[in-house]
Amino acid sequence: MMKLTRPFHGIILILFVMLAINSTSATTKYNVLSFGAKPNGKTDSTKAFLMAWEAACSSADSTMIYVPKGRYLLGSMAFKGGSIGSLAKDLKEEGVQNVTIRKTTFMETQNGLRIKSWARPSTGFVQGVRFLDSLMRNVQNPIVIDQNYCPHNLNCPNQVSGIKIKDIIYEGIRGTSSTQVAIKFDCSPKNPCTGIRLQNVNLSYLNKPAQSSCSNVRGKALNLVRPESCL
Ligand SMILES: *[C@@H]1O[C@H](CO)[C@@H](O)[C@H](O)[C@H]1NC(C)=O
Ligand SMILES: *[C@@H]1O[C@H](CO)[C@@H](O)[C@H](O)[C@H]1NC(C)=O
Repeated sequence: MMKLTRPFHGIILILFVMLAINSTSATTKYNVLSFGAKPNGKTDSTKAFLMAWEAACSSADSTMIYVPKGRYLLGSMAFKGGSIGSLAKDLKEEGVQNVTIRKTTFMETQNGLRIKSWARPSTGFVQGVRFLDSLMRNVQNPIVIDQNYCPHNLNCPNQVSGIKIKDIIYEGIRGTSSTQVAIKFDCSPKNPCTGIRLQNVNLSYLNKPAQSSCSNVRGKALNLVRPESCL
């Protein structure tokens, strides 16, 4: 299930390749199937997802994007709030929560499971995201949270993200990283990431142990976690 309340900005959640997202019902739903998505794992559904996202974000009501069970072939997706024009009273409602992404395969991509937020003030949040059962093949950044995203160091006056990221689970993530740092949590000093959990993660780098890197993050590692967790 993917739920967002009103437009949100400051977050770009990027997912690649095949997804199967669990979902439940809600009041105002935007069903990705009615935007042309096909749950067959073959038809490129990127555009349909983006259209559903935009429709949901431009609605004045509380909305939900409904993703029926299935396999969706998705290219690079950058979900952006509609990343503006919302009123101050809405600011505290912005966010993404309870998203489950399972059985993803990443082949030689730059990023795998990535949550990225701009280094800008905001009251938004990302919480309750579960990444389950992912296979990485030669991925540059298999697991990454980048809360200090500021390309060219422009327009991020405070260099600190206001987005709160919490309760993110990575479970059953395995395969190979093409860089030594296979797990990177680079969170905001103002709003550290909390409740980050790694469980049964086995990522290697050129058949050697990879590394993990943590800043401003709290959480725990359970069962086997390779590279050794920095949480
Ligand atoms: C998200 O999940 C949590 C924990 O299961 C639940 O308490 C909360 O109500 C959910 N939020 C939404 C918007 O469904
Ligand atoms: C971790 O992955 C490596 C390389 O794929 C594999 O050789 C090793 O057996 C795995 N370890 C466990 C405990 O699954």
